[in-house]
Formats: sequence, C-alpha cells, structure tokens
Amino acid sequence: MTAFLNGEFLPIEKATIPVLDRGFIFGDGVYEVIPVYSRRPFRLEEHLARLQSSLDAIRIPNPHPAAKWREFVGKIVAGNPWEDQNVYLQITRGVAKRDHAFPKSLMPTVFLMANPLVPPTAEQVKNGVAAIVLADLRWLRCDIKTTALLGNCMLRTLAADAGCAEAILVRDGMLTEASASNVFVVKDGTVLAPPKSHLILPGITYDVVIEILRENAIAHEIRPVTEAELRSADEVWITSSSREVLAVTTLDEKAVGRGESAGRPGPVCARVYALYQQFKARVMRAPAHA
Ligand SMILES: Cc1ncc(COP(=O)(O)O)c(C=O)c1O
Repeated sequence: MTAFLNGEFLPIEKATIPVLDRGFIFGDGVYEVIPVYSRRPFRLEEHLARLQSSLDAIRIPNPHPAAKWREFVGKIVAGNPWEDQNVYLQITRGVAKRDHAFPKSLMPTVFLMANPLVPPTAEQVKNGVAAIVLADLRWLRCDIKTTALLGNCMLRTLAADAGCAEAILVRDGMLTEASASNVFVVKDGTVLAPPKSHLILPGITYDVVIEILRENAIAHEIRPVTEAELRSADEVWITSSSREVLAVTTLDEKAVGRGESAGRPGPVCARVYALYQQFKARVMRAPAHA
C-alpha cells in the first residue's frame, strides 16, 4: 500500500514520524477522509475547503495550495490497487519540544494513505442498523475535523459494546450528531436536520443530502431537533462519506417509527438513498476537473 509522508511516496510500513510530533503528543492536527469511486475523488473541492477551515481554526498554515493537494490525492489513488478507495489525509502542526502553546513556524507533518472503500452492506441498507443514544461528552469545537478523537472513540466503543453500529448524541436535550456521522430525522413526512454550528461537524454528505432534498422538493427543515423528537421520529438516518445514507432502525433497542414500517428503513430514507446513489453516478460521469 502506497502512502505519502512529507513529500515522499512510500510503503506504509516505511512511514515513520518523530515521537515529538505534536500530533502524537497533543492530537494537534486535522484530517479529511475523501471517498473515491472508480478512482475519482468525490467532492474533493469541498473536502479541501473543510480542511482549510479546520487548519484556520487551529492556526496551522496550509502547507500546500489546492493544486498540490489534488496532485497528492491523485497519486495516492493511482498508487493503490482498489477502484473504490478512502483517502485519509492528515496534517499535524509538526515536531517541537513539548509545550502547550502553539509554537510558531513549524514545518507541518503531512500524511496520506488509502484503504479500500467499504460502503454499507446490502443487508444494512435493506434492514438498517441499531444505534444507542448517549450524552455528547465531547468538547465545544466539534466543527473542527481534528485528529483528537478520543471522545468520539469512547462513544463509538460504547455503541460497539451494546452491539450497535453508531452512538447518536444529545447535548442539553438537543440532538447534535453521531460519533462519526451526521443525523437526520423524519417527522410526519418532513426531514429535520440540526443546523451547522460549533457542536457538529459540517459533513460533506450532510451538504449533499440537503442539496438532494432541495432539488427534489422533499419537505425539510434545518432547525434544532430535540431529544424527544429524535426518540419519537418516524425515521432516523445517519450520513457520512463511508456510511452514505443509512437508516437507523432501533434506538436503545426500541424500534424507530410506527405501524408497518416500525423497525424498518422508512420510505423517505429509501428515496434519499436512491437519489444519493444517482447523484454519485451523475457526478462520476461528469468530466473530471483539473
Ligand atoms: C463526528 C462526525 N460527524 C459527521 C461526519 C460525516 O462527515 P462526512 O459526511 O464529511 O463524512 C463524520 C465523518 O467522519 C464525523 O466523524
């Protein structure tokens, strides 16, 4: 597997960093995960824009212009054997004597790797997945895509312990997001999405889903969603670059929804899932940008 570290393409086993790297010492870094379909990165410009916002938020100067990032991503994709990949891109502040305040003028550490892209299984798409609801114990800057993911890892582990695919998070009685995805709910035919704020990651898939809802005139409201609305929703979905649009069919072991579709993926989710697949196919057929 070909990786990239500080200007060099090399096998992942050969990629090593000094122990004083602030990514290792403090989790002082940011990252992106970019899905690649048929060797074409999906929404690359949006991922690069979010990367820039994360860097700005923690005052790491962007070490490369967008054209260079496109080139590195292209080379990682070409250097690995899979048609569909997940490209992981990480930048840390760099190597320095341990001291909390950000040192100035460090050389950022840049790392990229790729893995096979594993979308939800046909069984998961058909039947949905189980989730638990947990208190969002993370910090107040969840809008920054930082590698410091211990809170997210603790929450996802609690979900896994409960045999669930995801932990859906609430803070002060309001839905935020999930441990590694955004959350949408459907109530009486209207899709509800929590607005972007410092409490959630601005998901690239979240934006695609909102575009799909708009383009297809599917009723939706971007507004705060209460825990009570989450728990009494007709449908709950999670979205992310790897999970795409995936129905949550049980919450804390209780079936989501009412009547016939209780505990089954709902009709709005099925429609948006199909539209998402069409959207992906359309984008992938369009001419590649420079
Ligand atoms: C906490 C969190 N929220 C939301 C998302 C979804 O973001 P995206 O759609 O850009 O993958 C992720 C993705 O990893 C995440 O970690």
